Amino acid sequence: MNKKILVTGGAGYIGSHTVVELVQAGYKPVIVDNFSNTKPWMVQRLIELVNTDLRVYEGDCVDVDFLKSVFDKEKEIHGVIHFAALKAVGESVAEPLLYYRNNVCGMISVLETMRMFEVKNLIFSSSATVYGVPDKCPITEDQPRKSPSSPYGATKVMCEDIIKDSTRGGCIKAVSLRYFNPIGAHDSGNIGELPVGVPNNLLPYITQAVAKKIPPLKIFGTDYNTKDGSCVRDFIHVVDLAKAHVSTLDYLIKSKENYDIFNVGTGKGTSVLELIDIFEKVNNVVIPREVTARREGDIRECYADAQKIKSKIGWESCKSIEQALEDAWRWQAKLTEIGKS
Ligand code: NAD
Ligand code: WQD
Repeated sequence: MNKKILVTGGAGYIGSHTVVELVQAGYKPVIVDNFSNTKPWMVQRLIELVNTDLRVYEGDCVDVDFLKSVFDKEKEIHGVIHFAALKAVGESVAEPLLYYRNNVCGMISVLETMRMFEVKNLIFSSSATVYGVPDKCPITEDQPRKSPSSPYGATKVMCEDIIKDSTRGGCIKAVSLRYFNPIGAHDSGNIGELPVGVPNNLLPYITQAVAKKIPPLKIFGTDYNTKDGSCVRDFIHVVDLAKAHVSTLDYLIKSKENYDIFNVGTGKGTSVLELIDIFEKVNNVVIPREVTARREGDIRECYADAQKIKSKIGWESCKSIEQALEDAWRWQAKLTEIGKS
């Protein structure tokens, strides 16, 4: 087997976990990353974890000449998993052009290079953000996409459309995976999420607040019409999400369909207060916190219907939220121990 798979953003959070699963499944990942949102030492950790040498190219996916040079050197790339993107919703409102250039132009450059080198298979990192405020939960893939509330969300909608159009002639086959809320880390504690600056997302904020790196957690509203007043999300273990990419790749390589879309979630809704409670119990810690006003733009409830990926690809999430929260804390504790955070 040993098919070569180009993993853009492979040194990032979801990309690095996917590299581990690709190696375990017998694929040969080749990493491209510009290290704008990760650190080169993550690659070292990754190499130690997979216990094999990895090909890593530092460069920007927007740059077609750079991508051409990678495809040229590597030869026989069988598929691309395109993680590389900027992902901070707030920053995208402040810097929309940065996001459109990086995420949309990056996607176009990847597609152009794939066509040039006749590389057929593409998996794209889309997001549940494309559903906006969902009509109902659980969310099925056929729910309409809504006008995105941020330039970040708009880049995901645009990229999905660009990919769909590019697959029409059949030169490229692609799957867009719409992730819900990835959390957790590899159970070795060797790789995990490495947000630059103060985290926006809930779990990295919690782990850093418990480690006393940042002020107490602000819970953004407990006055929603939900089971306990806090927002509800579909928190999926990052290793389960990584495995979903391997299953999707196996499927895509054999598939006769040019383009499809799948939710990647657990199918279960967990509230912010429930997650806090479980984190404290499994890790035997107290999260310093206070309840504050709602955060603008937050969605009350968002969780996946995960049946389509189960029935067509055969993937479903296995790991519990307890495991994810233990793994996230182990990763943070290890980071603190070695002085990386
Ligand atoms: P991440 O920031 O940890 O990883 C992205 C990686 O891509 C980083 O290592 C970064 O340095 C690199 N990168 C960014 N722009 C690049 C470019 N132009 N050229 C080369 N490398 C570049 O983010 P992540 O959480 O691993 O997310 C991966 C993908 O999944 C992104 O496309 C993101 O939008 C999408 N996604 C993430 C979430 C989430 O909550 N983490 C949810 C839904 C979708
Ligand atoms: C989860 C819940 C907050 C931080 C975002 C993007 C989405 C996707 C995933 C990429 C919400 C609450 C959070 C805090 C809190 N990314 N919260 N205090 O907003 O569901 O989704 O990340 O595609 O596009 O929008 O994730 O982790 O920011 O928030 O109370 O300090 O935690 O209000 O209810 P979200 P999140």
